[in-house]
Amino acid sequence: MLLLAVESSCDETAAAVLDDGKLTSNVVSTQVDIHAAWGGVVPELASRNHALTIIPVITQALRDAGIGVHQLDAVCATFGPGLIGSLLVGLQAAKGIAYARGIPFLGVNHLEGHLAAIQLVEDVPFPYVGLACSGGHTAIYRVDDVGKVTLLGETRDDAAGEAFDKTAKLIGLGYPGGAVMDQLAEGGDPTRFKLPRALPQLTDIDFSFSGIKTAARTALEKHGKLDEQTTKDFCASVRAAIVDVLVRKSLTACRMQNVPRLVLAGGVAANSLLRRQVVEQGLKYSVKVSVPPKALCTDNAAMVGRAGYARLVRGETHPLTLDADPSARVGA
Ligand code: KG4
Ligand code: ZN
Repeated sequence: MLLLAVESSCDETAAAVLDDGKLTSNVVSTQVDIHAAWGGVVPELASRNHALTIIPVITQALRDAGIGVHQLDAVCATFGPGLIGSLLVGLQAAKGIAYARGIPFLGVNHLEGHLAAIQLVEDVPFPYVGLACSGGHTAIYRVDDVGKVTLLGETRDDAAGEAFDKTAKLIGLGYPGGAVMDQLAEGGDPTRFKLPRALPQLTDIDFSFSGIKTAARTALEKHGKLDEQTTKDFCASVRAAIVDVLVRKSLTACRMQNVPRLVLAGGVAANSLLRRQVVEQGLKYSVKVSVPPKALCTDNAAMVGRAGYARLVRGETHPLTLDADPSARVGA
């Protein structure tokens, strides 16, 4: 099956081609520079830029895969969650191709895509516990199969990526600041600033990250101007506060579900401390941890294609009337 997958839920325009579930091309055009000037994603700018890049990105993905649009057997696209204007661009483009070619179409939940990304590089047996942590979402799922997902816990306020980005903004690191903060943190002392680890109860696998931002702001006000080393210490302290909780709650979920497998997903899974700490702690608790390469952690269409492929081979399709759903849930 030659499958075209399209993703445009936030600020990345992406297309990928999969041949029987194996990735043959993966194109991502990011709008990050456009939104950086505004300190966050501007929805109207995002949809306008998706409209400009969607056809070139799809064309490039087909070219990289060495195929023409006439050879496609199916098309899938993210239908939610995400920004409505952004979602509509990719979804309608995919539907247009399916309609013109008379081939099956399937809408894919963006989070189901993140949770399936690992399957592109590793044959992880089901069930596994999946930690999806990005700029918009932070949740823990039990994954029994692609599309057979149960929500175990989620954030009650900010997402982990949002906590990184908002605290990075406090010290002028630009937007999105998560990756820069991660780099600076490598040279810092994580014990320098005391930041809270919310919801510490052993059986609670919900998250709350808004307290970190408030505590960080208060600490900065008290400290005054930061020198170079203190900036690094601040980044290391924020990173440790976020990562400690992500690791502890994911491993708690594995224990509570009696599932000794953990898969990371989403942009924050690119964080170097999270990647190190989760593997280290996993070993201690006999949990095998799988982490996708960074390019498959941040938004991309390959993961959407992998989730779509699993559903299509089961015979699932959607009618072309499927609408975008900005607040689509998974496993709840
Ligand atoms: O999955 P993603 O590309 O888009 C969403 O669906 O949100 O995730 C983007 C988020 C941003 O908040 C960004 O700051 C964060 O992932 N991020 C990181 C790192 N790389 C990206 N956060 C911490 N450390 C990183 N290395
Ligand atoms: Zn995402």
